[in-house]
Amino acid sequence: LTTVKELFSDREKYLDKEVQVGGWIRSIRDSKAFGFIVLNDGTCFDTLQIVYHDTMENFAEVSKLNVGAAIIVKGTLVATPEAKQPFEIQADQVLVEGVSNADYPLQKKRHSFEYLRTISHLRPRTNTFQAVFRVRSLIAYAIHKYFQEQGFVYVHTPLITGSDCEGAGEMFQVTTMDLANVPKKDDGTVDFSQDFFGKPTNLTVSGQLNAETYAMAFRNVYTFGPTFRAENSNTTRHAAEFWMIEPEMAFADLNDNMAVAEGMLKYVIRYVLENAPAEMDFFNQFVDKGLLDRLNHVLNSEFGHVTYTEAIKLLEEHNDKFDYKVFWGCDLQTEHERYLTEEIFKKPVFVTDYPKEIKAFYMKLNEDGKTVAAMDCLVPGIGEIIGGSQREDSYDKLLGRMKELGLREEDYGFYLDLRKYGSVRHSGFGLGFERCVMYLTGMGNIRDVVPFPRTVNNCDL
Ligand code: 4AD
Ligand code: MG
Repeated sequence: LTTVKELFSDREKYLDKEVQVGGWIRSIRDSKAFGFIVLNDGTCFDTLQIVYHDTMENFAEVSKLNVGAAIIVKGTLVATPEAKQPFEIQADQVLVEGVSNADYPLQKKRHSFEYLRTISHLRPRTNTFQAVFRVRSLIAYAIHKYFQEQGFVYVHTPLITGSDCEGAGEMFQVTTMDLANVPKKDDGTVDFSQDFFGKPTNLTVSGQLNAETYAMAFRNVYTFGPTFRAENSNTTRHAAEFWMIEPEMAFADLNDNMAVAEGMLKYVIRYVLENAPAEMDFFNQFVDKGLLDRLNHVLNSEFGHVTYTEAIKLLEEHNDKFDYKVFWGCDLQTEHERYLTEEIFKKPVFVTDYPKEIKAFYMKLNEDGKTVAAMDCLVPGIGEIIGGSQREDSYDKLLGRMKELGLREEDYGFYLDLRKYGSVRHSGFGLGFERCVMYLTGMGNIRDVVPFPRTVNNCDL
């Protein structure tokens, strides 16, 4: 089979020749002696017009086909200089691979994203979702390419773990125990020694702790895999299962970390603009009108930098506009993050040096004793897209902080070891992959950039 993409990109080669294409019917209409089919084969946005005639022995069968049916067409590619499309296929033969029932849920009219979410197995057959998932694939590739070109080693960190990297307790437990009948110890608590791993385990919220161990061997590494959070937040930016890219770099401080984050985002934007121009034009036209201008502006400017303390001062002046008023020590909410990046900086911005109380245990304490060497990257339209930090590399300070927070030393022995054997300054960050896809496509809901989203009360397919 020739793909529709090949026909469009190399039309001279195929014009007036016999070709064979396979795809799904987007629309079909017939008159007495001939009919038209618009076919999409999934290889590109473009659709192909097929003209078929009653000289075909299965003319009646083909004319009865519904939208969604799968066919293989043999015919000649002919130029159509007068028509909207540059060429069409004059069919000699239309083979019916699979009919489609008349109640096919995707009809020619535009469907809402909400409706399409209820048929996530069929929505990839629409233009919008073809564009989203082709671009999602390209972004993943571009991210690997960026890190591989710079010599980073890709590490596969485990999905089942005994630790809680972020310390937020938002974990899905993993167990083989019968929950209706869990074994108990004499004191009434659950006896995990009878569970599969002999202790409580959970799906990972981040591969960072494991990635750090490899950074202490390879210098520059990255993970790229699924992570899981049982956050009970029903927003357009949170999913229970999402992918994260987590580079970790030895001999790197917070500034090096931000330089890699900025370089990576710009590389990926450039790659997608160059390699998916049709899809990006489509988003710009139908999903988010300012998208291309905004992304090009990002490529041509430096990211903003502001400390948390400065950011709070800037935001306090606008407290009248917020549902949740800011004050030094508060965790920035999405409304504040978006205000900073959309109204004050009007471009991506790094916020650094957050109070230690609102950040994870592993972040390096600054000299002021109050803040940590953290950085979040905020972008217009979304808010936080990256969270990272320089890591605490002093054994004593790390252990002290873990004790303050009540972490069990025995669960983090491997992590403390890194500070005993050749500890070095090191830094890393986590890019939320879905938020990155939202940012590059202009799609407004995380449910529409994951093939099969998992969110509160939704694990349907
Ligand atoms: O800021 P977070 O929690 O950072 C970490 O997990 C660090 N261990 C990363 C590191 O330093 N290696 O998460 C990182 C990013 C966020 O900025 C956000 O983009 C995304 O992960 N994220 C989510 N994306 C979708 N749904 C959720 N529930 C998310 N939680 C975090
Ligand atoms: Mg964060």
